[in-house]
Amino acid sequence: MSLSAPRCDRTAAWAALQTRFDERGRTFDLREAFAHDPGRFEALSLQAPEVFADLSKNLIDGHTLRGLLDLARECGLQARRDALLAGAPVNATEGRAVLHTALRAPRGTAPFSDEVHATLDAMLAYAEQVRDTARSGITDVVNIGIGGSDLGPQMAVIALDAFAHRGLRMHFVSNVDGHDITPVLRGLKPRSTLFVVASKTFTTQETMANAHAARDWFDAQGGTDRSAHFVGVTTNLQAAADFGITRTFGFWGWVGGRYSLWSAIGLPIAIAIGEAGLRELLAGAHAMDRHFATAPLERNLPVLLGLIDVWYRNFHGFSSRSVAPYHQGLKRLPAYLQQLEMESNGKRVDLDGQPLPFGTSPVVWGEPGTNGQHAYFQMLHQGTDVVPVEFIAVRRAAHGLHAQHDMLLANCLAQGQALMLGKTREQALAERAPTAAPGLDPEVLARHRTFPGNRPSTTLVLDELTPRSLGALVAMYEHRVFTTGALWGLNSFDQWGVELGKALCNALLPRLRSGDASGLDGSTAGLLRRLSGPPGGAQGPEGAGNPQGVEGFAGSA
Ligand code: F6P
Repeated sequence: MSLSAPRCDRTAAWAALQTRFDERGRTFDLREAFAHDPGRFEALSLQAPEVFADLSKNLIDGHTLRGLLDLARECGLQARRDALLAGAPVNATEGRAVLHTALRAPRGTAPFSDEVHATLDAMLAYAEQVRDTARSGITDVVNIGIGGSDLGPQMAVIALDAFAHRGLRMHFVSNVDGHDITPVLRGLKPRSTLFVVASKTFTTQETMANAHAARDWFDAQGGTDRSAHFVGVTTNLQAAADFGITRTFGFWGWVGGRYSLWSAIGLPIAIAIGEAGLRELLAGAHAMDRHFATAPLERNLPVLLGLIDVWYRNFHGFSSRSVAPYHQGLKRLPAYLQQLEMESNGKRVDLDGQPLPFGTSPVVWGEPGTNGQHAYFQMLHQGTDVVPVEFIAVRRAAHGLHAQHDMLLANCLAQGQALMLGKTREQALAERAPTAAPGLDPEVLARHRTFPGNRPSTTLVLDELTPRSLGALVAMYEHRVFTTGALWGLNSFDQWGVELGKALCNALLPRLRSGDASGLDGSTAGLLRRLSGPPGGAQGPEGAGNPQGVEGFAGSA
């Protein structure tokens, strides 16, 4: 499928936005915008299903927003969205539909409904069997998977801890590094452990290595009845059977790995929170799907967030976005979003294979608040780069430590406020600074203590972190990523960029054992010699690299 509507940079709206940016956008000041418009918060905040969004601390005004909405229309965003939801092969390079929305649609309302609901029902019935711990004897569930087969279920299980079965411990093993699985296995017993081997392809090196390690451990520890202790989740039923797994829940090629938590890949979530909880998660996502499909663009939250992303990335030139969930349960959300956004939109050619002349996916990163405040927020407030921040606040906590929850929320509000308001030289001069060096010139000190302000942020608010609100939040992010990808005219649903490293790894693996570095580039050869051989190896650390140290480099030029 090639572009039927113009790519964003070939539209009249794009040119108009560039003019707007040059004339007003570059110097836009949030403090002035609030001073001039007392209704700014109301105008630029909206309630979507389960998610309230305050967009008013973004570097936009009504004029810019209208220009961005024109851009969406000129790029045919609605038609692209409708094609996605109808199951058109929008993943053009792999010739596939992209139908994660069908996984959370009520029975009979979306493509593939019969298969989807049959698998969902079977998976949920199985999850309930596992949750009946008096009968199942299971105390520990180990999900073995990576990327989308790990991050989604892991993020959700941690987020929904308040709803989780108290008699089941959930573990997630993803890394091929044996330091990941080893400590997990250390405390387990075969008879009370269930391994979920989760892999769309069932060929992923890391997952297969860990699955073999788990199976070897199970046998070595005297485990019996493997079929009751290993379950597979995959589109590759044959490979799971070849591995020796007899109980498998399938899904389909039209479910992208990073969009798969709604499929049987969500089995660990179902085991943790049960059938009712999982159905709530799906219902929350479906509510956001309906909002995305039907809300007018100017009140459509994923669309508005995606448009602001384009404004920042392509006009302001911001290359990164920080996500700061003020809820410890959302601590893996930034990692989940990294895959969702960067694997989807980290592309450099459009659907026609033409090089894109503008920036695409920003770097997405973050940590839960308040931890991030004591680590990298310094840079957000006073560094030389502007990084838009996304705060996620949850009004009601699931614990009874009310004073701490108030502190958490006050911190969240304060950070957005500080980023926007900043601190002037005059304010800094007027303050006492008890920890400043005695005798330091007050002018110099004031320069260190000045904050430029005018740094943008979005604040998303959930009333509570529940399966339903989490489902809506995650679906919102999915549609936002779709929106930016659609405007940029790229394929958000392939991931060819992961292939090269995998192929080179397979070629290096035997060389790592043999130490054969012939024909490799100089750096890889040097490192291979340093890393290869038996532990403490024949080559030894001294045997590799430049004995003269880095200084020797000049002589060899
Ligand atoms: O290598 C990237 C990737 O293909 C992701 O897109 C995917 O989520 C992950 O690997 C795991 O793949 P699988 O589920 O097939 O093991």
